[in-house]
Amino acid sequence: MAPLVGIKADGFMGPNGGDRLEYPGKLTWSVLISCVLGAMGGLIFGYDIGISGGVTSMPTFLEKFFPSVYKKEELDKSTNQYCKFDSQILTLFTSSLYLAALVSSLVASYATRRFGRRVSMLVGGLIFMAGAILNAFAVNILMLIFGRIFLGFGVGFASQSVPIYVSEMAPCRHRGALNNVFQLSITIGILVANVVNYFTAKIEGGWGWRVSLGGAAIPAIFISAVAWILPNTPNSMIEKGELQQAREMLCRIRGVSDSEIEAEYTDLVAASEASRRVQHPWRNLRLREYRPQLVMSILIPALQQLTGINVVMFYAPVLFQSLGFGNNASLLSAVITGLVNMLATFVAVFGTDKWGRRKLFIEGGIQMLIFQVAVAVLIALKFGVSGNVTDLPEWYSIIVVMCICIYVSAFAWSWGPLGWLVPSEIFPLEIRSAAQSITVSVNMFFTFGVAEVFLSMLCGLKYGLFIFFSVFVAIMTVFIYAFLPETKGIPIEEMRVVWKGHWYWKRFMPDHDDQEVNGNSV
Ligand code: BGC
Repeated sequence: MAPLVGIKADGFMGPNGGDRLEYPGKLTWSVLISCVLGAMGGLIFGYDIGISGGVTSMPTFLEKFFPSVYKKEELDKSTNQYCKFDSQILTLFTSSLYLAALVSSLVASYATRRFGRRVSMLVGGLIFMAGAILNAFAVNILMLIFGRIFLGFGVGFASQSVPIYVSEMAPCRHRGALNNVFQLSITIGILVANVVNYFTAKIEGGWGWRVSLGGAAIPAIFISAVAWILPNTPNSMIEKGELQQAREMLCRIRGVSDSEIEAEYTDLVAASEASRRVQHPWRNLRLREYRPQLVMSILIPALQQLTGINVVMFYAPVLFQSLGFGNNASLLSAVITGLVNMLATFVAVFGTDKWGRRKLFIEGGIQMLIFQVAVAVLIALKFGVSGNVTDLPEWYSIIVVMCICIYVSAFAWSWGPLGWLVPSEIFPLEIRSAAQSITVSVNMFFTFGVAEVFLSMLCGLKYGLFIFFSVFVAIMTVFIYAFLPETKGIPIEEMRVVWKGHWYWKRFMPDHDDQEVNGNSV
């Protein structure tokens, strides 16, 4: 297939400031299509994030499965707004999925390494489909929660394998953009779910929630079909000993001749050999030389969740209702935040490889901080500590929604995409699959935590909840500034150089490496 653009892959300075290492390669149609389709694995994750908040704000759904919340919400109009939806079992409905995803991402680590990235994606799609069907036909809460658990298994498999797949396929110059398509597809999934909820809530007869939950089957079918037809990554082929096929695949996706892929191919084989020598990737992760990767694989996803983004993503409709919006207005506001989230992700798709990861992280952090505090102040002024509000003028609600949107857009071009991209590109092959599982499971653990405690925290901390998250946003921005080196344009198998050149992490790097990459010891 013809190349899209005829530029050479980005090079970078060798570890000693010496030779410029370069892999020739172009952004070919074949790599573009594979990465974009592969990244669509995020759809199932996103659909799920967006669907539960709307469904749990639908009266017929609450009445059927959570009658106590329904009564509290419908009948007791005088209840403190902050505590309206505070129910453990309702929370469990949303959060059970993330616990399941946590467990399955650990299993997926083995599958991704042993059988390849595509197999994990396929398994993810199929299990997810089973969950969607269970949920659509749920007649009791058990079916509902089991369905969520199946969905969670699917999400765990997909989030473990998709970012690795894309990072390995993409030429390093475009890795950021292509990987961010994963986040873009998460945001598309969220938006579609919000729109679906908006319409299904209006279905006469009150069974719209079944359509919302069953609709998850559509992205599941899509991602399963995609995983079926996608090619394997060259890294994965080499790991499985299919050397010749890997070579051919590399030529195809880089759009260059056999002799031109020699350098990259040799590096991949060397990385694979180093990886093969590692019998216990999990145990290896504890080695001193992997300390920076280990720290990042834990802190980046944890901090991503501590931005508080999922308070908006899961509970936007509930949150807006608590703020005194009507049912329809709440679902509509969720559509608006979903749209902003998706559109702003394009900034990351186009900007990550241009401006670098650090700049986006830091700008996004500062913007989130400012607007989170603004939301806290606005809510405090109207709702105070009692949570009772008699009149909320429309202009006031609009300002609150606008501030939330500006906060969401900052997340959408910083911590959202980079929270997935950066971990997936910093792990050397020998620990990649295990480390990615850590990233996913930490992400899911904190997603679970935020989902679990949000409604009670809103009830207890009131507007202070937004201040609570903003403290973390401040800490994480400083953390990035001090500890995350720039990874833009560095070939994935040569990432070691960035740690070697970092003021803090260099002390963890061994003086000499036994791995020769492209003739340059890194
Ligand atoms: C996060 C999700 C979040 C979503 C919002 C993702 O990167 O992992 O937890 O809901 O972004 O767009």
